[in-house]
Amino acid sequence: MSGSEPTSPARSNIPRHVAVIMDGNGRWARKRSLPRHAGHRSGVKSVREVVENSARYGVEYLTLFAFSSENWRRPEEEVGMLMSLFLEALRREVADLHKNNVRLRFIGERECLDSKLNEKISNAEALTADNTGLRLQVAVAYGGRWDIVEAARSVASKVVSGEISPESIDEATFAAELQLGGAPDPDLLIRTGGEQRISNFLLWNLAYAELWFTDVLWPDFGQAEFEAALAYYSERQRRYGHTGEQLEAVKC
Ligand code: IPE
Ligand code: IPE
Ligand code: MG
Repeated sequence: MSGSEPTSPARSNIPRHVAVIMDGNGRWARKRSLPRHAGHRSGVKSVREVVENSARYGVEYLTLFAFSSENWRRPEEEVGMLMSLFLEALRREVADLHKNNVRLRFIGERECLDSKLNEKISNAEALTADNTGLRLQVAVAYGGRWDIVEAARSVASKVVSGEISPESIDEATFAAELQLGGAPDPDLLIRTGGEQRISNFLLWNLAYAELWFTDVLWPDFGQAEFEAALAYYSERQRRYGHTGEQLEAVKC
């Protein structure tokens, strides 16, 4: 990884976990009279950059929304092209990610993916499993509601088998069954492309995330935008239901 040393914001208030809805590839292409796939292709460069910037700033977890459960509704040609692009990106990037100590993990409904892609995903996860740097989590064929239903199913089967009792189920035991089980909740959600919605991303895990939206389209998202999001985050007072005065009192 290359690039300049961080100058701002201060390292003291860096989010531990950043989640990103990478939106706007299609519009980026349309603005240039290019086919949508040109936008997706150009978006890969921004993925590389956000990974580098996250590592540079000491973010521990980065979760990227690459393809939603609902994106299967897109024209077959676009879906096929996106799947080929994921495969190509894995082929091209995994060695470098490994060299940079990145630990890669995929979340989503793998059964829906083609066997070649699944094999690449499993190999990439196995190769990088012991890495201790940035934890990069890529959501493919992922939906927040699907994730919650799967977790509920898993908890229910543990109850049926007698492993746990219904009374013992609490937020922590439930969260452990989710796709991101074990990872801290995202502190900061970034969405590019101008829309201010969650689009069925990490519905449970984003409960207390700080939200940062930008009109910048994903292929144009670079270090300056990432730093702007970090700067926004560093100014937030995270109250989790407390009053601001309570938090000020703790500081003194
Ligand atoms: C995000 O860009 C990529 C995926 C959802 C796969 P879009 O393809 O949604 O781009 P817009 O929103 O049409 O511009
Ligand atoms: C959200 O973008 C999903 C990803 C970025 C992978 P969409 O473009 O699919 O979202 P909507 O349909 O505009 O809500
Ligand atoms: Mg979109």
